[in-house]
Amino acid sequence: MAVSQIYQRKIDHIQLCHQGDVQPKTANGLFDEVQLIHNALPELKLSEIDISTHLLGKPIRAPLMVTGMTGGPQEAKDINLAIAKICEKYGVPFGLGSQRIMLREAESVDSFMVRSVAPTIPIIGNLGVNQIRDLGIEQTKALFERIEADFLAVHLNPAMELVQADTDADQDFRLGYETIAKINEALDGKVLVKECGCGLSKDVVRNLMAIGVRAVDLSGTGGTSWIKVEALRNEKMGAYLGNLMENWGIPTAAAILSTQDLGIQKIASGGINDPLIAAKAIALGADLAGFARPILKAYLDTGEEGADFLMDAMVRTLKLNMILTGSRNLQAFKAQPKIIGFGLRQWIS
Ligand code: FNR
Repeated sequence: MAVSQIYQRKIDHIQLCHQGDVQPKTANGLFDEVQLIHNALPELKLSEIDISTHLLGKPIRAPLMVTGMTGGPQEAKDINLAIAKICEKYGVPFGLGSQRIMLREAESVDSFMVRSVAPTIPIIGNLGVNQIRDLGIEQTKALFERIEADFLAVHLNPAMELVQADTDADQDFRLGYETIAKINEALDGKVLVKECGCGLSKDVVRNLMAIGVRAVDLSGTGGTSWIKVEALRNEKMGAYLGNLMENWGIPTAAAILSTQDLGIQKIASGGINDPLIAAKAIALGADLAGFARPILKAYLDTGEEGADFLMDAMVRTLKLNMILTGSRNLQAFKAQPKIIGFGLRQWIS
């Protein structure tokens, strides 16, 4: 049976993120400008290092998270089930990909049902702000409630929408805050707002706080560039604009640093490509470190074992960095002095 256009697009995204060159050429997350300071006498033992925390009030065992990727075709279902199972093992949240596909392909709901393998962790549904605006609050709520998720990630991705040449691309970004405020209220504050690799600025985060949003995923540059994905998927103008704009956005470390004094829960994702970067993101002030493509690649390259290894390494590296800086818990780790390079400091001036 022929695969529908929307299923094929999901498969293309998975394949491009697995094997394509989808990182920006020059932009990076600026984590090389963060240096933690070694403590040779930490006076702590590894087993007492506490990395437990919460996402929007729901307890989790480590400040890590897999951010939304996929849903729809069989390939997506397999990925969701396998990675959700690993998240359950480590007690960290798991994000599903955009649920928009459920409107077009009714049976795709199956690929979002991961609760059976992940009974205790936060599971996060996903829809774009424009889709929510156009669907309306009642229909959005129904989509969210069907998949037994705890929270809804409302994704923002204007740069990708603007460069892609797909006919259904929505290039009207009006009524964003109003839509988010309404859905957040309708879901009793269970909304987190995420970018998809171009970053949230301090002003946008402040505006989101003002309308009642309690958690954001900063998702800055340095990792998967959806502008670049579109450059690879498109021809002519789409490819031209995608290549031209591939470095656009706010580096992830800069997004963390510039929002450090805002009292909102912050997930840092975008370019958390290895466990040391995750540790630096948290030291810099992120509440959770999130990643998408690194665990997708690990799973597609080496199966569940590879994805499990990455998650295990994330947990161990974080604890190792905490003990080597003399930090018993996450609060202490964030408060440690650190060296911050000039390029990164410019983002807070
Ligand atoms: C994504 N991402 C994403 N985000 C979202 O909110 N809804 C979605 O449907 C998707 N789809 C998707 C597919 C695939 C294959 C990948 C790799 C990623 C974006 C993702 O959550 C994250 O914001 C960015 O990819 C940046 O993080 P990484 O990949 O650099 O860790």
